[in-house]
Amino acid sequence: MPRPARFAHVVLQTFDLKRLVDWYTYVFDLEVYAESPRAVIGSYDEEHHRFAFTQFPGEKVESFFNPLKHVAYAYDTLGDLMAQYKHMKARGYHPVESVNHGPTLSLYYADPDGNGVEFFVDRFATMEESKAFMASPAFQKNLFGYYFDPEKALADFEQGVPAEKVWEYDQEAADRHLEAQKAKAAAAAPTS
Ligand SMILES: [Fe+2]
Repeated sequence: MPRPARFAHVVLQTFDLKRLVDWYTYVFDLEVYAESPRAVIGSYDEEHHRFAFTQFPGEKVESFFNPLKHVAYAYDTLGDLMAQYKHMKARGYHPVESVNHGPTLSLYYADPDGNGVEFFVDRFATMEESKAFMASPAFQKNLFGYYFDPEKALADFEQGVPAEKVWEYDQEAADRHLEAQKAKAAAAAPTS
C-alpha cells in the first residue's frame, strides 16, 4: 500500500462557529479562504486548508470536548489513492462518504471508534490553484461538492482513463447536491 504523502488537515464540528473560528484565527493566524453560515475553511501555510470548521445542526450537547470530525491525509496521485481504496476494501473497510469537493477527491472512513479519517488526492497541481478554486463563486456557494462512486472511479482508473477525467468536477452534480441540501433543510424547518 502507498503511505500518505503528508498529513494535511483537521476538521472540527462546533455549536458556535464564529467563536471557534475567532479562536483558531487568533491562535494560528489562519487565513480564511472560504466560508458559509455552516462552514469555514482556512490555512496558515501553503496547504490549501489546514483547518475546516462545520456548524452542528441543532441544540448544544453538554460535553467538555466536542467531537473531532476527521483528520486528513494526502496522497500524491490518483493511483496511490485508488491503491489505498483497494487496500481498505481488502479488509472490508468501505468509505462512509466519497466526495468530489472540487479541490480534492476524498474518501472518508470511520475507524472502529467512529473517528473520521480522510484520504484524498489534490485535483490541482498547485496549492495556488486550489486556493483560487476555493475563492471562486462556484465553490463559495457549495463548499461541499458532491458524492461520487469510488467503484466507478476505480474501474475507470484501471481501464486507463486519465486522472483529469476521473476526477473532473461535474458542476451539474454539484448544483444538484446543493438543491438537495436546500430541499432537506426546508423540509426540516418548522412550519407555522
Ligand atoms: Fe477534510
